[in-house]
Amino acid sequence: MAALLSSLLIFSFLSLGTPLSSNYYQKTCPNAESIIRKAVTDATKNDKTVPAGLLRMHFHDCFVRGCDGSVLLNSKGKNKAEKDGPPNVSLHAFYVIDNAKKALESAYFLAPVYAHLRVYDVSGLIYMQSGGPSWDVPKGRKDGRTSKASESTQLPAPTFNISQLQQSFSQRGLSLEDLAALSGAHTLGFSHCSSFNNRIHNFNSTTDIDPSLQPSFAASLRRVCPAKNNAKTAGVPMDPSSTTFDNTYYKLILQQKVLFSSDNALLGSPKTKSLVSKFASSKDAFSKAFVKSMIKMSSITGGQEIRKDCRVVN
Ligand code: HEM
Ligand SMILES: *[C@@H]1O[C@H](CO)[C@@H](O)[C@H](O)[C@H]1NC(C)=O
Ligand SMILES: *[C@@H]1O[C@H](CO)[C@@H](O)[C@H](O)[C@H]1NC(C)=O
Ligand SMILES: *[C@@H]1O[C@H](CO)[C@@H](O)[C@H](O)[C@H]1NC(C)=O
Repeated sequence: MAALLSSLLIFSFLSLGTPLSSNYYQKTCPNAESIIRKAVTDATKNDKTVPAGLLRMHFHDCFVRGCDGSVLLNSKGKNKAEKDGPPNVSLHAFYVIDNAKKALESAYFLAPVYAHLRVYDVSGLIYMQSGGPSWDVPKGRKDGRTSKASESTQLPAPTFNISQLQQSFSQRGLSLEDLAALSGAHTLGFSHCSSFNNRIHNFNSTTDIDPSLQPSFAASLRRVCPAKNNAKTAGVPMDPSSTTFDNTYYKLILQQKVLFSSDNALLGSPKTKSLVSKFASSKDAFSKAFVKSMIKMSSITGGQEIRKDCRVVN
C-alpha cells in the first residue's frame, strides 16, 4: 500500500504543469528544430557515439524528477549533481547540447528563452544519424532547479530483475510495453565491464558465470573483462551494429547474447517475452512501439523555469 501510494504521488507530481505541444515553437522560433538537428548532425559526423550519448542522457533526465534538464546541471559547491552520481559512467555528449543552444542563440536574438529545447528535442532527432524512426517531439518543457547525485540511484540498475524493472517503470507511469520497447535503445552504444561484471565473475556461490548467458558469448566477454576490477575504460559495444538503430538487440535477447541481467530479464514475464519475439521479427513493429513509448517517457515533465544557461539554474 505504501509503495503504491508513493508511486501515485511521484507520478502525479511529475505530470503537473502545462501540456506539451508539437507546434510550441511554430511562431517564435520556426527553425529551431532544423538548427538543433544540424548541431547533432555536425557532432555525429565527428563522433558516431553522439546519438547513443544523447539518448541515454535523455533517459536519465526523464527518470529523475521528470524530463527537466536536471541531468545537464553542473555540481555546485557542496551539491553533487546527477551527472556526477554513480550511474553516470557513460554519460557524455553534453557539449552537443551546448552547441545546439549556442546556434539557437545566434539565430534568434532572444534565444535564451528557447534553452529548454535542448536535450528532449535533440533526442527526437537520433533517427537522422543512426537510421532510427522519426517523430514529432512534444515541446514546451520547463527546466528544473534541482539536481542531486544521490537521486541518480533512482535509476534502474543493470542487475535488476523483471519485477524491479516493472516497479521502476510503473513509478513513472510507464508500462511493461514501454519497458520492452525502450530497452531497445540498447541497440546503440557502448557498455563498460563494470555494468555486466556481475554476470561473468562470481555470479553466485554455485556458479561463476550466469547460466542465462550463451557460453561462447560469456567467454568473449571474459576475454575483454578478465577480472572483476577491470580497467575503467574496458568494455564492449551494446550490439555488433551499435551505431545503427535496428532490432538486432531483440534477436540477441532470444540468443541470450545481451549484456545486462536487466536485458535478459525481459524474458522473465510473459508480456515482455512475447514483445521481445515480436520486435525480433519486425523492425517496423519495434520502431512504432519505440516512438510511442519515447513520446510517453518524454512527456514526464517536472521543471519550473526556462533556464538561461544549460548547466546552471537561473
Ligand atoms: C531498463 C532499464 C535500463 C537499465 C538497467 C539500463 C542500464 C544501462 C547501462 C548499465 C548502460 C551501460 C553504461 C556503461 O557501462 O557505460 C546503458 C547504456 C545505454 N543505455 Fe540503458 N538502461 C536501461 C534503459 C534504457 C533506456 C530506457 C534508454 C533510452 C531510451 C537507454 C539508453 C541507453 C543507451 C543509448 C546506452 C549506451 C550509452 C553510450 O554508449 O554512451 N537505456 N544502459
Ligand atoms: C561520475 O561520478 C563519479 C562519482 O560517483 C565522479 O568521480 C566522476 O567524475 C563522474 N564522471 C563524469 C563523466 O561525470
Ligand atoms: C527480484 O529481486 C528482488 C530483490 O532482490 C527479490 O525480492 C524478488 O524476489 C526478485 N523477483 C524475481 C521475480 O526474481
Ligand atoms: C545460482 O544461479 C543459478 C542460475 O540462476 C541457480 O540455479 C542457483 O540456484 C543459484 N545458486 C545460489 C546459491 O543462489
